[in-house]
Amino acid sequence: MVKASAPGKLMLFGEHAVIYDKPCIVASVDHRISVSLEKRNDNNIILTAPELSIKNQIISDNLEKSHFKKVSFILAAVNNFFKKCDLKSGLDIKTQSEFSDKIGLGSSSAVIVAAIKGLSELFKIKMNEKEIFDLSYQTVLDVQGLGSGFDVAAAVYGGILLFVTGGKIISPIEITDMPLVVGYTGIKADTPTLVKMIGEKLLKEPDRVNGIFNEIENIVNLAKVEIGNKDWRKVGHLMNLNQDLLRRLGISSKELENLIKAALDSGAYGAKLSGAGGGDCMIALADKENSNNVKRAIEKAGGKIIEAKIPAEGVRSE
Ligand code: MEV
Repeated sequence: MVKASAPGKLMLFGEHAVIYDKPCIVASVDHRISVSLEKRNDNNIILTAPELSIKNQIISDNLEKSHFKKVSFILAAVNNFFKKCDLKSGLDIKTQSEFSDKIGLGSSSAVIVAAIKGLSELFKIKMNEKEIFDLSYQTVLDVQGLGSGFDVAAAVYGGILLFVTGGKIISPIEITDMPLVVGYTGIKADTPTLVKMIGEKLLKEPDRVNGIFNEIENIVNLAKVEIGNKDWRKVGHLMNLNQDLLRRLGISSKELENLIKAALDSGAYGAKLSGAGGGDCMIALADKENSNNVKRAIEKAGGKIIEAKIPAEGVRSE
């Protein structure tokens, strides 16, 4: 039996613009998903996923009927790995998750990456990080049809990364700690709908939306330097500027704005939504001494604090 695990992620800067070939900055978080794999003597793929209340379910025959997105991702990861390596085998697969798939921390990408790493160990096929990234990203596109792959990169490489769509650039920003506070709105973001909405806006108002993307690109490039410098005051200011541009794209929400305001009013250097918008999590940057104040203010405004250490280690064998 083999076991591999991969971390979740938070988008720090550059969401949406990254789909259109602009850079973004993504951080891995220390909430992991692990996948255990064992060969079987028959051809069945059997899944146990306690977090989805799935126990010993054959998933190889009924992908179409599956109600669970995560099941489709795991099966697609297995099929893509077998196709690439010209292999076939039955498998017992067990997943274990340290975070809910409802909060936008990237459970789909983490489970795909952990599964592919585990498969490469089980079948003794050497894969480097870029090969794991490419096969995992292909799996995301096969199942979901869209996405820049920033979440897959965080799951594979860990750390904090400057990233451009499809892995054209994956460049680490070398820091070991970032004092981020994470507040969950309680609302699940609908990423595909929001990504399509921005695509339609871009068609209708190309000059305005491209102008916003260019401004986001400038902010990302400045943020890369200031994160490296650990200048949290400047990073916080850049977060506020990025949030303002996301507002102008129309993807913030009342709930996100309430939590962002609470964080800023209680002394955070900066705060913004993280991810597609419309819900999921917001992030705030606050000194260690002030972080409890910021957390309390976010809770008072109706948010749930997700305790998370940033950054985390990328995919690994357990
Ligand atoms: C969603 O978390 C972030 C987006 O930029 C989509 C993506 O990059 O895949 C909106």
